[in-house]
This record gives sequence, structure tokens and C-alpha cells, in this order.
Amino acid sequence: MSFDRSLKIAPSILAADFSAFGAECRAVEAQGADWIHVDVMDGHFVPNITFGPATCAALRPHIKGIMDVHLMIAPVDPYIDAFAKAGADIITAHVEAGPHIHRTLQAIRNAGCKAGLALNPGTGLDAVSHLLDMVDLVCVMTVNPGFGGQSFIQSQVQKVSDLRKMIGDRPIHIEIDGGVTPVTAPLVTAAGADVLVAGSAVFKGGSFDKPEAYGENIMTIRNAVSGTM
Ligand code: DX5
Ligand code: ZN
Repeated sequence: MSFDRSLKIAPSILAADFSAFGAECRAVEAQGADWIHVDVMDGHFVPNITFGPATCAALRPHIKGIMDVHLMIAPVDPYIDAFAKAGADIITAHVEAGPHIHRTLQAIRNAGCKAGLALNPGTGLDAVSHLLDMVDLVCVMTVNPGFGGQSFIQSQVQKVSDLRKMIGDRPIHIEIDGGVTPVTAPLVTAAGADVLVAGSAVFKGGSFDKPEAYGENIMTIRNAVSGTM
């Protein structure tokens, strides 16, 4: 089968109700989410703390599709097996999180997961050019990682186009994370992105027991990018 570069919307549960993650995952999938994006933060690599492998394991039975785990932690390597055992399909590590990203990506694949590489807004694409055979996904951060609800950093759009050229026909997803809205989404899909993480823009106005707003929010993003990919 050819590589699937069609649009995937990945709601970040960072913007969900923290007391009801299971119900939130079920609700947002039923409303049209393609992947579930799980933001793991350690209060060290980023100035915020969320949750770890035990929460991912608890979420797993509530997610039918892809569990996309974004590790904003340093170090990464000691925790890879725990997140793989917790049921992650994709594990994404930051290039800035340690000196041995090549080893980290190898360890993620050895653990049976797809390997993602995330770049902070200040990090250039040189960081990726020698790793293209090691990654299944590159995550371009369009905010500084740590918090949901921040504004999209426009300068990253050029990075996405350059990355798209660099990737060529390789089976690598380009994921955008941070500040994705119906206004910013078409900029990055036109530049070559296929996976859009969206927290606030998906979860706003709804709840797991009134999830129709999630469906409308997802549809609004889909409509905004139609014709750009
Ligand atoms: C930021 C996280 C993002 C964040 C996106 O550190 O990696 O996934 O939740 O949130 P929004 O869509 O609200 O910018
Ligand atoms: Zn994320």
C-alpha cells in the first residue's frame, strides 16, 4: 500500500478534561479524530508537568486508532520501553532533549513503535537531514512546547516547505503541533504537512457528554484545508 499522506487530525488531550481522559478520547474519536495526541511533559525539558506511562496505559483501551505520544522529557531513553508497553503506536522525541537522538530513534523502533522526531521553533532542519532513514514522522513545533493555547509561530511555515522538499518520496509524516486553527491549518497543509495536532481548537465549546462541538471543530479544520493538499 502506498504511504498515506492524506490529512489526519490529532486532537491533543492536553486540552481535554483531565478528570475524564478515557471518556474524552472515546468522544473525540467518535466525532472524527484520526489520531489521539498525548503530550507528556516533565517539568524539566519543558516548564510544565502532565503525566507518564501509567496514564498512557490507562488510556489505551479507550483509543481505537493511533496513540501518538509526544515526549517533552529529558532524558528520553530510560522511558521508551515503558511508553511502548503502555501501547504507544508512535513515540516522538525532541532533537533538543539529549546528545544521542540517533540512538533514541533506534531504541523507539526497536521497542516496536514508529519513531517521531520533534523540532522546537528555534531548531533548524540540519538536525533532521542525517536522520531521514530513522524516522517515520517529523513534528514541527509551531509554538514553544510546554503549554496549550499559544499562538502559532508564522516563521515555521517556511521550515515545513523546506522539510517537505527534503523528505521527497520517503514515507515520513509531517506533523504540526501548536496553535493550529482553521486559519493557520491551511498554511501548513499547503506547505506539505499531513498531520495536524490541535488541542484548544478541537476541544473548545464541548465536553465528553456534549461532544458535538468536537465534531464541528474538527469539520471546520477539515473544510479549511480542503484543496490545499
Ligand atoms: C505543546 C503541545 C501541543 C499542544 C497544542 O507543548 O505539544 O500538543 O497541546 O495545543 P494547542 O492546539 O492548544 O496549541
Ligand atoms: Zn504535542
